[in-house]
This record gives sequence, structure tokens and C-alpha cells, in this order.
Amino acid sequence: GNIVFDDSRAAGFVSAEEMNNMKATVLCAKDVLMNKTGAGNDFLGWIDLPVNYDKKEFQEIKAAAEKIQSDSDVLLVVGIGGSYLGARAAIEFLSHSFYNVLPKGKRKTPEIYFVGNSISSKYIQDLKDVLEGKDFSVNIISKSGTTTEPAIAFRVFKDLLIEKYGREEANKRIYATTDKAKGALKNLADQEGYQTFVVPDDVGGRFSVLTAVGLLPIAVSGADIDKLMEGAAAAREEAVNAPYESNGALRYAAVRNILLRKGKAVEIVANYEPSLHYVSEWWKQLFGESEGKDQRGIFPAAVDLTTDLHSMGQFIQDGSRIMFETVLNVEESPAEILLKEEEVDTDGMNYLAGKSVDFVNKSAMNGTILAHSDGDVPNLMVNIPGQDEYSLGQLFYFFEYACGVSGYILGVNPFNQPGVESYKKNMFALLGKPGFEKEREALLKRL
Ligand code: PA5
Repeated sequence: GNIVFDDSRAAGFVSAEEMNNMKATVLCAKDVLMNKTGAGNDFLGWIDLPVNYDKKEFQEIKAAAEKIQSDSDVLLVVGIGGSYLGARAAIEFLSHSFYNVLPKGKRKTPEIYFVGNSISSKYIQDLKDVLEGKDFSVNIISKSGTTTEPAIAFRVFKDLLIEKYGREEANKRIYATTDKAKGALKNLADQEGYQTFVVPDDVGGRFSVLTAVGLLPIAVSGADIDKLMEGAAAAREEAVNAPYESNGALRYAAVRNILLRKGKAVEIVANYEPSLHYVSEWWKQLFGESEGKDQRGIFPAAVDLTTDLHSMGQFIQDGSRIMFETVLNVEESPAEILLKEEEVDTDGMNYLAGKSVDFVNKSAMNGTILAHSDGDVPNLMVNIPGQDEYSLGQLFYFFEYACGVSGYILGVNPFNQPGVESYKKNMFALLGKPGFEKEREALLKRL
């Protein structure tokens, strides 16, 4: 099945006429994207990835994944931002909820842990404890090859590998995903002989999940990366070729910009499955870094439901009326649990006997959508047939395409992230990095 974007429940907030009025703007933004005439046009390699990717490298990714599966109990995935979130989103979406702690025999593929996405000593130390007595490999992912967070974690775990296996064997357990020619990581990889995978020049971090950045860790988890690409290709077909009226990605880009112009400056993505938590995190980065600039953009937020109905639900229902909600609806749960009848109905739950837990979840979702709509929160839906690779590939591409178009409608460059540099500059200065002496002096006076 295909994922389907549904804006029908926002009809009370955005009329058919308004959607129609937006058509010319949207098609113009789409043309700018496809003809590569807009800002950031040297970062559009992601558009054709699903139909035009490096097949040879794809095979090498599969071979490396098999090697890691055969010689490692654990894979460490070291990366941050766009070099982290896609792989995590996919693995959590596709795998068992308790993947890493499944008993041996129930999981044939390595435990997978993510590190280098913070600067926490506790996290690093605790992860070292997990590795005790286990064979492991490391996939270090950094397009620039110079990002501080993953570089720090990599130093620690590279040393641990060398301690455990000696340098030569350690180097065979390190897989570096980085620029094809430049950067500190590429230089190190060449010097030490790590196997390398390429982040294409024209694909930015947050659009890189369908390159080796996402594909190697995803393949190690046992997921079918061919199906993932097929799904993305199907979504690309619709996004590129379907008319505006039946083009989910274009309609999503249109409706969110209409809502923004009406003062809805916050978009909350809501899921009803804990295993979609990192899909929301990936989405937040995609839209946040792409649109949040030049003092513009929709603030991307996310809630896990029904969990957060018991924390953020009050605000969404009744707080400042600044938001709209986009529900990620997994139509078919991979598990069916039926509720049983009890002889004495002490807990008052017998009225649900014979019903499935998913029926209860869907009722909560439908009830919440109506309640939020009644509370003046426009609702958008992304219906996802199931938690499989094909659906996920579609979902990734759908959002990427919508994001590119939406950014151009907004009038920003969706493919740069100049704001990310500000904290780095200050951090380097405070750390005493050579070349930042002047900034350091100025900052120390302010602290
Ligand atoms: O989307 C982006 O460009 C960023 O989030 C980067 O992915 C992130 O900063 C990590 O960069 P790098 O892969 O160069 O280590």
C-alpha cells in the first residue's frame, strides 16, 4: 500500500478555494526545485537518489552489513544530526521495540547503540560497560569529518577497539561514512585503511538517510534496504509527477504554509506508536533546519501519544492557539492483542472484551483528532499502511520533497544551516581551539 496524505480534516480551517489559490505558488516552488534554479541548488542530489543511486556501493553496504552481523555482537553508530537521526528513526520504526535486549536466538543481528550525539561522559562510560565481553564494530558517520560530538566519541571507542583487538584488526572493524575526498575523517580512514562509504557532495545531512549514512546501520539491523529504496521511488513518482490535486507532498507543503500565514506558527507531529518517536525526531530536524532561518519558519514540535495527552494534551487542547497537528497514523499494527472478558468486572473494563488494543488506540486517536479540531487545532493526517521498509521509504521521501517545496514557498534556502555554526564558534573558543584566540578573550569577559 501507499502512504496517503489527508488534509480533509483541516477543511474547517483551510478552504478548497484557499488550497486552489495556493496552487500557482506551489507549482512555481516545485519548478524551482526540479529545475535547480533556487537557493541551495547544489544540495539537490537527494531528489533522484531513489532512482539513481550508486548500485556498486549499495552492494558494498550489504556486504559490510553481513560482515558486521557475522563478527559483532554490537554495532556502535557514531554520528549526530543528519548523520544520526535517519538511521535511528528507521531502526526503531522497523525493529522489535526491545531489539537490543531480546534474548539470543530471538534476534540474529547485532545490538545497535548510537553514540556521539551528545557530549555526555556518563553516556559514554555506560556504553563502555555494555560492551564488556562483547565483540563490536564502529560505524563513524560524519560528512564534514570534523564534528566535535562524534569525533570525541570516536576517539574513545576507537581506542577501546585497538585495546581489544590490536590496531590491525580494529581498523577492520571501523567503517567510515564521510566525504569522498576531504576532511579529517577521510584522511584518517585512508591512513588506517578503514572501509569507507560516501556521503555525496550534493546531499546534505538531513536529506541523507537514503545514502550510506542511513543504509549501513539500517542494513545491519536486518532491514531490507532494497524495499526501503523502492518505497522512496514510489513516493518520488507521486511527488514529481502527480497533479497538485492528488499530490500529497505538494498539498502538505501548501496547507502548512497557508496555516502559517494564518498565525499557526507551530506544527506538532503526533504519533500513536512509541516506535515512531525517532521518526518525529528526524522530521523535526528536517523541517527545523530547513525552514527555521531569516527569522521565519514553522516551529516543528512532536508528541508521542497517547503518552503526552497526559502531559502536553492540556496545552494542545486549550493553550495558546498557535499550532496545528500532523498525525502519523500507522493503519495496521504489526501486533494484535485481544482484551478478554473477566468474570467479575471490578475494573469496569469488560465493555472492551473482544476488542483489540489497537482498536482502543485508534479510538483514542480519532477522539483526540476531533477534540483538538474542536479546540481550534487544525488536523492533518499522514496515513502509513504499516511498519515496513516500503512504507518507511515512502514516508522519508514524502517529507523530504514536501520540505524542499515548502521551504521555497516560505522564501528561504531550505538546504543550508548557517545558524548551526554559532554555538560551535563559541564552544571552540571556550575550548581553546587554535585560531579562536580573539573570540575566546571576548567570551571569557562575558561569562
Ligand atoms: O543536517 C545537517 O547538515 C547537520 O545536522 C549535520 O548532519 C550534523 O551537523 C552532522 O554533521 P557531519 O555529518 O558533518 O558530522
